[in-house]
Amino acid sequence: MATFFVTIQLLPATFSDNLKQLNIEGHESEFTRTPNKAGTAMILVTGGAGYIGSQFVRHYSRARPSEEMLVVDSLAEGHVEALDGLSKVHFEKMDIADIDGMKVLLEKHAIDAVVHFAAFCYVGESQTNPDKYFKNNVSGSGHLFAAMKDCGVRKIVFSSSCATYGNPVSIPIKEDHPQQPINVYGQTKYLTEQMLAANAQESDWSVTALRYFNAAGADRSGMFGESHDPETHIIPLALKNACGSGEQLQIFGDDYDTPDGTCVRDYVHVEDLAEAHLLALDKLSQQKGARFLNLGTEYGASVKEIVDVCQEVSGRKIDFKISPRRSGDPPCLVADASQAARYLGWKPAHDLQSIVRTAWTWECQKRY
Ligand SMILES: NC(=O)c1ccc[n+]([C@@H]2O[C@H](COP(=O)([O-])OP(=O)(O)OC[C@H]3O[C@@H](n4cnc5c(N)ncnc54)[C@H](O)[C@@H]3O)[C@@H](O)[C@H]2O)c1
Repeated sequence: MATFFVTIQLLPATFSDNLKQLNIEGHESEFTRTPNKAGTAMILVTGGAGYIGSQFVRHYSRARPSEEMLVVDSLAEGHVEALDGLSKVHFEKMDIADIDGMKVLLEKHAIDAVVHFAAFCYVGESQTNPDKYFKNNVSGSGHLFAAMKDCGVRKIVFSSSCATYGNPVSIPIKEDHPQQPINVYGQTKYLTEQMLAANAQESDWSVTALRYFNAAGADRSGMFGESHDPETHIIPLALKNACGSGEQLQIFGDDYDTPDGTCVRDYVHVEDLAEAHLLALDKLSQQKGARFLNLGTEYGASVKEIVDVCQEVSGRKIDFKISPRRSGDPPCLVADASQAARYLGWKPAHDLQSIVRTAWTWECQKRY
């Protein structure tokens, strides 16, 4: 498979000025790197041109401005513009399933740990095209792990999902809740967790799988945020409608057993997710085996509440209609995130208002 190397260009000065105004300072890494023969070790971020991956890359660059990192993304989804302005980022357009290509990169850049975001994420599409999801998310991850093994890289933070739980039998959901995914996407995340757990049991891997609930919000600069095609997430869809550029918002079901009849979800800001990855990465050096941690705010917001907050923040009326329930939508998904608080010292800084405010700023000036 052909690969090419791109060093991401710096954004115009206005961007760096913004950062100065925001007083974003780096802090020292606690992450112990083991440089190999190629020199200084660095981290590899797969899927780093995607929504959450690129936010992590930006967050890492702000926290550790002197450190370089390698981003690998096939650009099947995602946007290379999401990495604009990050001078320490080496970008490779490559599929993680390309074992030989990945091995070359792991060696060349002396990779010591991997933050693995790369996956396909549309629940609906996973049901209609399951092969695409098993091949990319499960087999692709297996190829990545094989390349890591061959190169002696055994530290990994993995993007898992609350979709691995399926229909909740208790709320809030703890990590030991039964994992019975009700869609193919959730199955692929569950199987990848299982592969990692097996690796950690069989050899000295250090694994943290972070099970996010609903990622939302945008970068504090307002210049980077969520952009999926098709967009399926409620906040960008509601805000698109508020901008006047979207179709009528559909609320799927208002007859659930929830306070206002609409589905309840736990929305967590993408910067808070990024911070959790940084903390998890730092812990890997002291950790053996596999850990599974929920990431959520422990606050459940209904779809109607989201619409209300989007109207309040945007100052615009959102045009919505009630449609029939969708199959595979549990009524309520809310995290118990106490393990992440205890183990990582992680506490989300953003509430729903802040999530919607940052998403609105992004929506108003979306560049990609
Ligand atoms: N968005 C959410 O609410 C949410 C919730 C739980 C878990 N997650 C997980 O977080 C991760 C990131 O999600 P996102 O919303 O940023 O998705 P995204 O689609 O924006 O980003 C995924 C990125 O991975 C890349 N990619 C996919 N397959 C690849 C491959 N084989 N090789 C190289 N690159 C590949 C895509 O091109 C894309 O840039 C995913 O693993 C997803 O399952 C997301």
